[in-house]
Formats: sequence, C-alpha cells, structure tokens
Amino acid sequence: MLVGILKESGSENRVAMLPGEAAHLIKPGVKVLVETGAGNQAFASDGEYQRAGITPSSRDDILSKAALVLTVNPIPEDDLELCREGQVLCSVLNPVENSKWLEKARSQGLTVLALDLVPRTTKAQAMDILSSMATVAGYKAVLHAASMIPKFFPMFMSAAGTIKPSRVLILGAGVAGLQATAIARKLGAIVEVFDVRSAVKEEVKSLGGKFIEVAGAREDAAAGGYAVEQTEEFKIKQLELIQKRSIAADVVIATAQIPCKRAPVLLLKETVNRMKPGSVIIDLAASTGGNCELTENGKSIIVNGVTIVGKSDYPSDMPTDASKMFGNNINNLLKIMIDKDGKLNLNMQNDIINGTTAVHNKEYVSQRVRQMLNIK
Ligand code: NAI
Repeated sequence: MLVGILKESGSENRVAMLPGEAAHLIKPGVKVLVETGAGNQAFASDGEYQRAGITPSSRDDILSKAALVLTVNPIPEDDLELCREGQVLCSVLNPVENSKWLEKARSQGLTVLALDLVPRTTKAQAMDILSSMATVAGYKAVLHAASMIPKFFPMFMSAAGTIKPSRVLILGAGVAGLQATAIARKLGAIVEVFDVRSAVKEEVKSLGGKFIEVAGAREDAAAGGYAVEQTEEFKIKQLELIQKRSIAADVVIATAQIPCKRAPVLLLKETVNRMKPGSVIIDLAASTGGNCELTENGKSIIVNGVTIVGKSDYPSDMPTDASKMFGNNINNLLKIMIDKDGKLNLNMQNDIINGTTAVHNKEYVSQRVRQMLNIK
C-alpha cells in the first residue's frame, strides 16, 4: 500500500506526520510518500523525510497514486476531483462545517476517516487527536495569557515590595482545562477551576487548583465522561458564581464544551463589563460559539479594557510537538487498520474503526456523523 502525506494549505503549520513518526509506517507492503515541502512549517525538511525512508513527491503524484492520504485538515475541495473511487482520506473532518465536502467525497466513492470522530474511550486514548490538540491548546492558552496581562503570574517578594500572584479562573476541566490548570499553577498563579462534572474535582485538587462548584449539576453516566445540558435553574446559579469569580480574576481560560452542541455561554457581557481592566479571557471554545457571549472566532477584541481572545489555532502555533502528537495518534489508529501484508483492512465490526469512518462504499457509516448531519 502506498501512503501519502500532503502539505497543508492556508496558515496551517502542522503536518500530519513528521519524519520520525512516518518512518514507523514503513513495513513490508507499505511505502510512504510525502509532498515536497510538507514539513517545512513544522521545521522538518524534505531531506529528513528522505533519510527516514520517505520519498518526497509532487502533490499530483500522491493524489493519483496513494491508497491512503494523510492530512491535518481535509484536502481542498478542488483536490477531491483528483481522487479516485476507493481511495482513503484521513484527517480531522469537522463534519458539520464540511458537510458539503463530505457529501462530495461520499458520492465519489472515497472513504473518509475522521480523526475527530475517534471515540474518546480508554481503548482509543492513544489515537485521540482531539485530546492531544486540546493539551497543546491548554498549555499555549496559559502562556499567551501570561504574556498579555500587565502583571506577574507568581507572587514576588522583592526589595521593591511584595507582588500578589495573579488569579486564573478556568472554566471546564476537560483535557484543555486540566492542562491549563497544571501550567498556570506551575507559573505560580492562584487557580480556580469550575466544571459541572464532580468527577474532575480530585484531579483539579491534585494539580493544585481549587475546585469551585454549584450544587445541583446534572450528570449522566451514559454520556461517556462528557458533560450534558444543565437545567435553567442551574444555569442561573452557575452564571452568578462565575461572575463573582471572574471579577476577582486576572485571566479566564474558557474551555467548556458539550459534544456536538454549541459551547455553553458562561461569561455574559455584563460579567466582562465588571472584570478588571487589563484582564484577559482566552476563549478556547471560540470555534463552537464561545463560552463568552462577546467572543469573536479568530479575533482578539478589547471590551472595557478586557481582552477577549477567540483564537482557534493554538496547535498550529506549536507545529513541531503538535505534529509529533498528531502523527503518533495516527500511527496508533493505523495499527488496528493495516494488516500484516500492509493492506488497509477496515473491519467495520471494530467500534473504533466504525466510529471513525465517516463515509465508505458511498454510505455514511459513523453513527455520530449520521446524527450530526441528520441522516436517517
Ligand atoms: P473536553 O470535552 O475534554 O472538556 C470540556 C469540559 O467542559 C468538560 O470537562 C465538561 O464537563 C466541561 N463543561 C461542559 N459544560 C460545562 C458548563 N456548563 N460549565 C462548566 N464546565 C462545563 O474538551 P477539551 O478537549 O478539553 O476541549 C476544550 C475546548 O477547547 C473545546 O471547545 C475544543 O474545541 C477547544 N480547543 C481549542 C483549540 C484552540 O486552538 N482554540 C484547540 C483544541 C481544542
């Protein structure tokens, strides 16, 4: 089987596989090509790929020959024309945003493996690209905030007096939120963390954060460790508490999400208006509507002296390690898909493969994609 790694388009700096990870794919029956210059933005040259046994090739060559094409983001729609029936495309998909693209791929008979659909189960943890990228985002968000606020993060005792530590409020203690908690604590800030899932309380405490909670949160064991919609009464109590804690904070890192839904609005305009001038909100949930009602996706805005950052591409700002994690996750996924003869074997009885396959044989496969796109 021929596997091809393509160069990303637009401002994306990551590459689906760096040379080190791509080398693990090479085995009897599997050969790997990389588009010339694909790793440049992640500081991996064509020479490094070549030394790892991977052949730099043209984009057209890869699209026409590779059985499996790896990218970070879906290939541009125009490139779909160059693909052939039975070819497998593997990337993060964002099925709702890219529903037209997916329909086109389905009607052409392509198979699409959506890395953002890998089930978030213990068995699939090593393949979970969303968790890897959320780890990067949680880390970068804190560093970004620390570089923007007009204060130190840690407490300072110096001859010029004692400087109080900054206060960081983290909304949502999932992967990004816990990573942000750990980094903000390492930098010496006082960290308060809010989540609707009581299960994360101990984790927050073990990282040195203070867990703040509102009584009466709805939790559902069947939601597989994810949050569920809350009652109106709970939402009002929650907004009051978050407002109080935000007014005291220098930084708010907002990471709350409910799968397949708009991000919950936790910071109202009124709350922002009462926050300290110079404070910063990093809204990691910007691409799904934002946890702050004023957030603009892809922009930084200033409201009453408070900066609200709606940046959605933190992983692209750390392309080397983000690509390394991305490639490792793909390798772990492909381990259950490539057989001993080097052929791709998509066993749809396997729940990870079934859950990750968006379309195959001109059918929508993944139940989550069917639900998201309202396909009966
Ligand atoms: P996750 O699902 O692991 O964590 C989300 C957390 O939010 C969960 O712990 C959940 O219980 C909590 N939550 C849900 N509703 C809540 C509410 N009403 N109040 C308080 N907490 C609530 O998600 P993960 O992987 O940590 O991602 C977090 C966000 O970061 C997502 O929106 C994701 O799209 C985004 N992200 C942003 C990036 C960027 O560059 N801006 C890059 C990667 C991820």
